[in-house]
Amino acid sequence: MALAVRFHDQLSHNSTASLGDEILAGFAARPKWASPKFFYDRRGSELFEKITEQPEYYPTRTEELILSLAAHDIAEIAGPEADLIELGSGASRKVRLLLEAMRPSSYLGIDISEDFLRSSTLQLAADYPWLDVHALCADFCDELHLPEGFDSVCPLAFFPGSSIGNFTPTQAQQFLTRLHCLLPVGSGLLVGVDLIKSKTVLEAAYNDAAGVTEAFNLNLLERIRCELDSDIDPRRFMHKAIFNEGQSRIEMHLVSREAQDVTIKGRRFHFEAGESLHTENSYKYSLASFAALGRSAGFESIAQWTDPQQLFSVHYLQRSV
Ligand code: TRP
Repeated sequence: MALAVRFHDQLSHNSTASLGDEILAGFAARPKWASPKFFYDRRGSELFEKITEQPEYYPTRTEELILSLAAHDIAEIAGPEADLIELGSGASRKVRLLLEAMRPSSYLGIDISEDFLRSSTLQLAADYPWLDVHALCADFCDELHLPEGFDSVCPLAFFPGSSIGNFTPTQAQQFLTRLHCLLPVGSGLLVGVDLIKSKTVLEAAYNDAAGVTEAFNLNLLERIRCELDSDIDPRRFMHKAIFNEGQSRIEMHLVSREAQDVTIKGRRFHFEAGESLHTENSYKYSLASFAALGRSAGFESIAQWTDPQQLFSVHYLQRSV
């Protein structure tokens, strides 16, 4: 019988306070912005799972295809002693491909959304009785520590879904540098990275016809309304996603349908008609530009895999020094 999941918590417990502070700061800024990490409450995480099933949203299924073909090569590079760490674990099916190919003795899932993390790691523990499952609730924008009891000599950290693209390149470099400190020399880092491609394909992926991405984006306002004593009305905003070619990023916005005032925690903010609240970026890379980013944080590029259409890529990096 497997042990139950060993749960560790590194989330600072003023998280509602910091939700408020970050949202207020973003609404006071010009242009207005909102931190994307607040997308992922329970409903947000569920909506995100639905996004990944939309026909226009190619990243998830393409990454799964790449991983299913590369899993045995990955297991071989990682070696028989490697344990698996998953960053932003969500409800991922992708990690199962790795678990089955690698058969590690331990797995650590790290996620900011506590109840989602609990249910997905419990499911893994139930499905893989041979696996020692740890869960760490943490914000990987903060400093990370491997929890006690998870002492892997040579882990492979897995960061799927092109979540790295949701950082600016500078933040991504800082994040990789934090991982470089966290992981012992010789550790692997497997990163899913979306590739630069035509504007049409990119914009369709973030404007799915069923409106799931729209609902996901608007859920941020719903969260503000419920949790921050606010009168903001999601129906008065519109979802917009455009590819900014100069910056090589998809930008997600919520555009005010009319001139309006909103109150959040007793503070008033004015929106002009058509004024946008910038909610998310999704940076796209070339194979070479991502390898260079890894190198700038002390990781060597060991292998890269793509699909035949070059939509998406998976990079095996290694902490070299
Ligand atoms: N990492 C995903 C991506 O950039 C996240 C994502 C997909 C996302 N669709 C979204 C984030 C819509 C915010 C809104 O593709």
